[in-house]
Amino acid sequence: MSAHAALNVSGVSVRFGGVTAVDDVSLSVSPGNVVGLIGPNGAGKTTLLNAISRLVPMSNGQVRVFGNDTTRAPAYRLPRVGVARTFQVVQPFGNLSIRENVAIGAMFCMDSLSRDDALERADQALQRTGLFAKRDQLPGEVTLADRKRLELSRALAMAPRLLLLDEVMAGLNHSEIDSMIRLVRSFRDEGTAVVVVEHVMKAIVAVCDRIVVLQSGRKIADGSPREVLEDPTVVAAYLGHRFAARHGRSAAGAAA
Ligand SMILES: Nc1ncnc2c1ncn2[C@@H]1O[C@H](COP(=O)(O)OP(=O)(O)OP(=O)(O)O)[C@@H](O)[C@H]1O
Ligand SMILES: [Mg+2]
Repeated sequence: MSAHAALNVSGVSVRFGGVTAVDDVSLSVSPGNVVGLIGPNGAGKTTLLNAISRLVPMSNGQVRVFGNDTTRAPAYRLPRVGVARTFQVVQPFGNLSIRENVAIGAMFCMDSLSRDDALERADQALQRTGLFAKRDQLPGEVTLADRKRLELSRALAMAPRLLLLDEVMAGLNHSEIDSMIRLVRSFRDEGTAVVVVEHVMKAIVAVCDRIVVLQSGRKIADGSPREVLEDPTVVAAYLGHRFAARHGRSAAGAAA
């Protein structure tokens, strides 16, 4: 196993004109760990994932993935060092089947993969996410929950060692969330490092080894679920007192 952190973000800032969307954020993720990235709408969670995956430029800071400095790497390099991600707004190729959409993910990150091998990888990923039976349908023909599964399958087909998930549970019902929780746990059990951006607190509590909280671009908390969910600053900024009263104890218990 690598001695390096899977992900090391150090002092990263992202500015859009006058808006500082991410403000001097540092965090690290170890292999086989799940880190939750939470915070109010507009806190900078997606922008931080975008900066890590090199889709937006950083104005300051450094990112290392398994020891590789990727601060200025082109976006296409990231899958090749083991990073795959999902997008909050799912945008599959509408005229390709679900299976083909997933196979493209695999082909994108491996130079010498044949079409058949890519389709085989796609099938394995689709079996894992429960979408295999719908593999020949078009993305527009399935539900939002299935399009979220497609997004996850595409990332999985890239055989990631670091998986960045941006709200894969948004819009899912309780049983769909439960099966997504089981999937994320299975990635962790295989040694994959995972960053989970999510507003579904039930899922955050169920899967995270650590939680990082952003507010207005700044990191306001970083610690065990127990520490973070009981932190008065986090309760005031994001969770609300009702959540704390209802879930604080059980969340801390689940995390212990
Ligand atoms: N491409 C962009 N150009 C200008 N401003 C942007 C851009 N992308 C994000 N922002 C701004 O950066 C801030 C952080 O947005 P971001 O989408 O990262 O938040 P978020 O934490 O993911 O929110 P949500 O929970 O709603 O998804 C917001 O003020 C947003 O308007
Ligand atoms: Mg977002």
